[in-house]
Amino acid sequence: MKPKLVISTGAGMSAESGIATFRDAGGLWEQYPVMEVASADGFARNPGLVHEFYNRRRRELVKAQPNAGHYGLVDLERNYDVYIITQNVDNLHERAGSSHVLHLHGELMKVRALDNEQLVYELSGDNLDTTPTTLIEGHHVRPHIVFFQEAVPNIEPAIKLVEQADVFVVIGTSLNVYPAAGLLHYVRPGIQVYYIDPNPATVPANVHLIKMGAGRGVAELKKQLDHQ
Ligand code: APR
Repeated sequence: MKPKLVISTGAGMSAESGIATFRDAGGLWEQYPVMEVASADGFARNPGLVHEFYNRRRRELVKAQPNAGHYGLVDLERNYDVYIITQNVDNLHERAGSSHVLHLHGELMKVRALDNEQLVYELSGDNLDTTPTTLIEGHHVRPHIVFFQEAVPNIEPAIKLVEQADVFVVIGTSLNVYPAAGLLHYVRPGIQVYYIDPNPATVPANVHLIKMGAGRGVAELKKQLDHQ
């Protein structure tokens, strides 16, 4: 039985793949008004603007590749049962080959029927764009994204994973957005917590900081775990 390594990743995980984070200088929230392009009210007010915002991010994502950090997490599966909980909506963990990826904030390459949230469709190839009039199987669709002001349905399974962790690792998140930022508090007493971030806004107590980018940081994590 391999030890369970649970990893919570944020936008910094994909920074070295060329995908903008949200709150770094030049980040997405500097370029776009977050409550207009990523909230439930914004989508109700101007769905076309929201569709276009996600269309643009999809077109960037298909040109991006997983980075050394993503592949380093796949390597860790040799000695650990690795479960990734990600705030990221990109599919770079999956494309790198990670076996267990749980998305808290949705998935950029997917849309779902407005009239039935169980109907989820994967976009691919050259039809990456949607608009308010797009019909898939006769249904109008919306991004399969958890907008601000909406519930995070996967937080329950995420908490259960963290409660079972033998090691917990946080990579590339500013720990600004709840409930994701609160996962840290579900770690069992005595379990080692690592935090990989080159420029952390806050460093929680009892956390072992690896002050590096994801690529080098995951390699350093592996070294430290091997000598644990
Ligand atoms: N490697 C690792 N971490 C990095 C790197 C890198 N190369 N570059 C930047 N970072 C770190 C930053 O220092 C910062 O702490 O990544 C973090 C990015 O923080 P945010 O931009 O706030 O992204 P995130 O924490 O994922 O945002 C959470 O907010 O807007 C919502 O839904 C959106 O999922 C997102 C959520």
